[in-house]
Amino acid sequence: MLEPIEKASRDELAALQLERLKWSLQHAYDNVAHYRAAFDAAGVHPSDVKELSDLARFPFTSKKELRDNYPYGMFAVPMSEIVRIHASSGTTGLPTVVGYTKNDIAMWAGVMGRSLRAAGGTRNDIILNSYGYGLFTGGLGAHYGGEHLGATMIPMGGGNTEKQVQLIREFQPTMIMATPSYMLTIADELQNMGIDPASTSLRVGVFGAEPWTNEMRREIETRLGIDAIDIYGLSEVIGPGVACECIETKDGPHIWEDHFYPEIIDPVTGEVLPDGTPGELVFTSLTKEALPIVRYRTRDLTVLLPGTARTMRRIGKITGRSDDMLIIRGVNVFPTQIEEIILRHESLCGHYQLHITRPNHMDELTVLAELRSDLSDVLNESQRAAIATTVRHEIKSGVGVSADVYVLETGRIERTQVGKAKRVIDKRPKGAPAS
Ligand code: DLL
Repeated sequence: MLEPIEKASRDELAALQLERLKWSLQHAYDNVAHYRAAFDAAGVHPSDVKELSDLARFPFTSKKELRDNYPYGMFAVPMSEIVRIHASSGTTGLPTVVGYTKNDIAMWAGVMGRSLRAAGGTRNDIILNSYGYGLFTGGLGAHYGGEHLGATMIPMGGGNTEKQVQLIREFQPTMIMATPSYMLTIADELQNMGIDPASTSLRVGVFGAEPWTNEMRREIETRLGIDAIDIYGLSEVIGPGVACECIETKDGPHIWEDHFYPEIIDPVTGEVLPDGTPGELVFTSLTKEALPIVRYRTRDLTVLLPGTARTMRRIGKITGRSDDMLIIRGVNVFPTQIEEIILRHESLCGHYQLHITRPNHMDELTVLAELRSDLSDVLNESQRAAIATTVRHEIKSGVGVSADVYVLETGRIERTQVGKAKRVIDKRPKGAPAS
């Protein structure tokens, strides 16, 4: 059973969004010193908002503002109202800290439960939750959503792959939630133990927290015999469950627009772009109490698409983050472009890594790709070299950079057990310009 708002017309949805947007901006202005100062400096006031497009006049928020107000300075309620905090790891500098009131936790469980239902879940499902529990929003966010749906949650968390396999065999889960890269690691472990990964009780996997391509979807679906659903979210906006694909269409995550208002902007000029034009995704929270977020720059690059299985709009696959973009000898490269090329080869699997160095002031890209485990001992040196040569040509013609490509046997690329896969190892000196 869908919630009424999931079936609402665009007009009904827009009316609700406008009412909630006015509340959210006023709440931020009244209760967060940063927003009051930033709105005043930009010469805008929440009462200026007459229609949704007026939001474009408000200033952006980025990780910087959250860091400058570390840890609790962006909270809009007293600490006595905050019932939980999470923090994102932050590869550089301070982590970003996010807080939730009781109502926020209930809203989050609601949108996460809605996401799992869109993914085909019901109260009859047993869900193995392999997202990390702790400060990361993945574990607890998914957990509360599953309970909200009424499903049976197995709070496994990330890592300890042998145990994951044991639980899959003995507890017979019908759904799994994990990063897509970790799902492949679990599939390898099943295979190592002589179990056909396609023969388990699993029926659906709900994957996110890192970019993954449709080629990766195909790989996971074929190896595990499951439906692989894309779920999107970020801590600053709520956590997992900002958007999720519907199992009947699998055509990009629907954004739960009754709580999170999306815009796509030109990442350089900040100008709002029309739906259908690729750019950077920006979110404004509509109902959040503890940490209202106004025009948050996600750095995620994608496109806004019209609704299909739901009236709410969809996002396309995240092609990368603007801060993940590699510039190799002047050419812009996203790791997902290389992933697409690698996974077009039947003999290669989704474990790959990009190494970038700068010997003699020239950038060099080395791509390490692993063979599918059943072919690892079958293909000889020259057959592997032939695959490497083809991949090199495809990268050169498709992406426009020269790369050294090595095809390795199974297990040679380090696995990320907990958290997001590390796809790029950039050993170039920081700050030095390339020649
Ligand atoms: O990764 C929340 C989450 C947990 C989402 C579990 C889905 C499943 P953060 O650690 O704050 O939160 O990282 C957010 O991860 O801005 C994207 O760059 C990336 N990301 C999340 N989901 C996807 C996805 C969680 N489905 C950052 N596809 C975001 C691509 C994703 N990238």
